Amino acid sequence: MKLLVLSLTALLFLASSGLSAQAVEGKKPLVLFFSYSGNSQAIAKLIAQKTGGDLVEIEPVKAYPKDYNDCVDQAKEELNRSDRPEVKTDPARLAGHDAIILVHPNWWGTLPMPVATFLEKADFSGKTVFLVTTHGGGGTGRSQKDLSKLAKEATVKDTLAIYGKGDNTLASDLDKWLAKNGLTS
Ligand SMILES: Cc1cc2nc3c(=O)[nH]c(=O)nc-3n(C[C@H](O)[C@H](O)[C@H](O)COP(=O)(O)O)c2cc1C
Repeated sequence: MKLLVLSLTALLFLASSGLSAQAVEGKKPLVLFFSYSGNSQAIAKLIAQKTGGDLVEIEPVKAYPKDYNDCVDQAKEELNRSDRPEVKTDPARLAGHDAIILVHPNWWGTLPMPVATFLEKADFSGKTVFLVTTHGGGGTGRSQKDLSKLAKEATVKDTLAIYGKGDNTLASDLDKWLAKNGLTS
């Protein structure tokens, strides 16, 4: 009974305060991802399922070459030139979310350059970013440091490194990491 009264009071408060659904939505994380060969995408989808968060892809305007080696070479040149390849994704997609979980592959020891483009464009003030890096043996590399430089207003929290697409402990590793960071109830 007490609970019912409390819930009704909360509802009445929300209705009378004019707080929009978006303010309440702010509690849901945004799962932002970039992926070339699918590992980071699959993990981002799993995280969105586990947290109830919204899923948004950072999509480059110009797709990377299908040939893996060509992609590796292009990515190296982009990093060396500090390129900022154009992205289709609207930076305003962050609105209404306090917690952002960024899932990306390690490219040459850091974030892929289209991720850098997005991070510089978007407004991260008041946002907390949790980083998940998939990799081929190099772990998270310089990603967290570079993220802090690119998204200056963001509070950067815990980083999780996943080898490839993860192994049979992936689901429980994610559960533990999400719970530790208060991203699941
Ligand atoms: C352009 C490119 C550069 C890469 N550089 C690294 C690296 O420096 N260190 C590393 O551990 N893995 C590296 N990898 C491997 C990827 O990080 C790894 O396969 C990742 O899980 C791929 O994620 P995705 O399937 O979401 O694209 C690289 C892969 C590509 C395509």
